[in-house]
Amino acid sequence: MKKVIFSGIQPSAQSPHIGNYLGALRQWVELQKNYQAYYCVVDLHAITVPQEKKKLNDSIYATYAMLLAIGIDPNMSNIFVQSHVRQHTELTWILNCFTHLGELNRMTQFKEKSAKQTKIVSAGLYDYPVLMAVDILLYHTNIIPVGEDQVQHIELTRDIADRFNNAYGEVFTLPTARIVKETARIMSLSDPKNKMSKSDANLNATVFLTDKPDVIRKKIMSAVTDSKKSIEFDKKRLGLYNLLGIYKAVTGESEKEIENHFSGKGYKEFKSELAEALIEIIKPMQQKYTTYIADKTTLEIYMRQNAHKAAIVAEQTVRRVKEKLGFII
Ligand code: AMP
Ligand code: TRP
Repeated sequence: MKKVIFSGIQPSAQSPHIGNYLGALRQWVELQKNYQAYYCVVDLHAITVPQEKKKLNDSIYATYAMLLAIGIDPNMSNIFVQSHVRQHTELTWILNCFTHLGELNRMTQFKEKSAKQTKIVSAGLYDYPVLMAVDILLYHTNIIPVGEDQVQHIELTRDIADRFNNAYGEVFTLPTARIVKETARIMSLSDPKNKMSKSDANLNATVFLTDKPDVIRKKIMSAVTDSKKSIEFDKKRLGLYNLLGIYKAVTGESEKEIENHFSGKGYKEFKSELAEALIEIIKPMQQKYTTYIADKTTLEIYMRQNAHKAAIVAEQTVRRVKEKLGFII
């Protein structure tokens, strides 16, 4: 039996950026070959903050199409939309009753996101980590490929699962996060102290997978660095270190090889080679994306087929949980 991996991404009007891609999505493509993979566009998570109807609808298609474009194979992996599998909401209610307020109060993502909300902070935003725990636990997930920011949520998932198992007997598998250390935190191009983010107000901070070659060149050339000359891996030189990390992840070369290659050269050469390397990996994705997004009927067929398959596994888990609780099933 293959081990199970699960991961999720929020639908967003902005396409994923190279931080999402190098930190998480690229691993999704690689891992699908050796694992039973579930990849989920988490629209129920998206509505924990205010959304516009049309934008959200477009975003779900766009995110799904982009996952296919980067190489997720809908016949090999189960790639589905969260709200199509009702068991996610059902089990969330149940596991809410096994989650402590104190645990949710400690979640840093909640603290950050609620501080940013100008109007209301919904109960859904507070409960976000429980829905995420359910995503993971429904499919007996062993491994979750994510970026560093999600580790706290996964620890909570383990705690909830363990608490339920101890009280009622083994139902849930305890999952582990899989972090690729080197790319777990790709930083902003304009402020390398902060991580690259979809919602950055500064458009030069982030390279999106839908950016055209000229835009990528412009953003990389204007990335913040320092006044030193040499191109070297030096953690203290935040901006350069981040760019070199991206270069390394994209080319697969070692740090030594990269330093040798750029010895005697300056920022201009380095940045332009980095831009071209990025364009080269992004271009084929964009071509595929254009084809997928133009055919919503096919996207919907994949969505429905995979949701149907996911629901079979999810329903078994929910039934076991209900039975353990003493519900009449
Ligand atoms: P999100 O866009 O927040 O739904 O994130 C999708 C995935 O990308 C999650 O696994 C995140 O941990 C990961 N991720 C987001 N931003 C970054 C970043 N700057 N560097 C590395 N991984 C990231
Ligand atoms: N919270 C994750 C993020 O913001 C998205 C997500 C939802 C997820 N459910 C998940 C990630 C389950 C991994 C596993 O990136």
